[in-house]
Amino acid sequence: MRIIRHDRKKPFVVKLGELPGIGGLTSDPKIHNYEIHLCACGLSKHKPFCDGSHAKVQNEEEGKLYAYDEDGVQHVIEKGYE
Ligand code: FES
Repeated sequence: MRIIRHDRKKPFVVKLGELPGIGGLTSDPKIHNYEIHLCACGLSKHKPFCDGSHAKVQNEEEGKLYAYDEDGVQHVIEKGYE
């Protein structure tokens, strides 16, 4: 078991055309502009892809540490755990 800290509250957005080696394969703007959303909050059940679970972290306050249980319920961790 391990704890991994995630600070970001939204996904990383990657356009296919910006990936090395992919952009030169086609000039089709639909493919170039196709976006992949990668989970950066750590809560997605479909990693590496974002599934919208980052909505649960939007109320997190600066300076507090949070944990999420298997049901996605938010808990504040008491100081000293950092
Ligand atoms: S960034 Fe993690 S679910 Fe969207």
